[in-house]
Amino acid sequence: MPHSKNKIKILFIGDIFSKKGILAVETVIPKLIEDEDINFVVCNGENAAGYEGITLRYAKRLLKAGVDVITLGNHAFSNKDVENIFKKENFPLIRPFNFKNVSGEGYISIEKNGIRLNVINAIGRVFLERLPTSDPFDKILDIINVFTSGITVVDFHAEATAEKMSMGHFLDGYVSTMIGTHTHVQTADEKILPKGTAYITDIGMTGPHDSVIGIKKSIIMEKIKTKERVRYEPAKAGIEFQGAISTINYETKKAISIKRVKVKLDL
Ligand SMILES: [Fe+2]
Ligand SMILES: [Fe+2]
Repeated sequence: MPHSKNKIKILFIGDIFSKKGILAVETVIPKLIEDEDINFVVCNGENAAGYEGITLRYAKRLLKAGVDVITLGNHAFSNKDVENIFKKENFPLIRPFNFKNVSGEGYISIEKNGIRLNVINAIGRVFLERLPTSDPFDKILDIINVFTSGITVVDFHAEATAEKMSMGHFLDGYVSTMIGTHTHVQTADEKILPKGTAYITDIGMTGPHDSVIGIKKSIIMEKIKTKERVRYEPAKAGIEFQGAISTINYETKKAISIKRVKVKLDL
């Protein structure tokens, strides 16, 4: 189907959580791509394997469903199978660029139907201090400059609202969209920033929402109450597909609109 180059639509999918989350993606996106005339699909897959990390098998399922690029976050290396994915050439899975001394790449450039999309994955440091990361603000503009053509989008995986907003304003005018991930709670602050970058603090989580951020409610309530170590277990009920669609003018690279997506599913 010929797409108008003036209106490029990118579907971002919030942290895919456990098998139910993958099933939600497989259920929702083929029709959503068709109905919304989506050009590219970018998903955060850091919780695809149970809730920690991703495996090659799950990554392949996401690609088969229609995902073009998979990003990660603080759980990037929780499942060792990710190393096998990084060994594969041209596999569209990236991890935050500012992780220090790890395998894999922090950004990717892909082309489809004559349209080029560049995706950068970064991770925040506020409330994530224990991770071996460098300042995400440092070097991100250098990475943007590596791309000589196409539109550029950023998945900023971070905990603090203020850090995400700061990054959004820092990137305004340099990228077409910055979406936030990691909190698993969708925020209602989607907007176009003054210099044309579409922004949302967090696009939410695709998985079980009758939970505490994806984990069985009773387990987290116990942990919060007792401060004891507990064994996490993904919840199963209240499945929702969550994300956002950003529409971008390919010539000016400025965003035209951004809208949230939220689909309740009986899975
Ligand atoms: Fe997550
Ligand atoms: Fe995360």
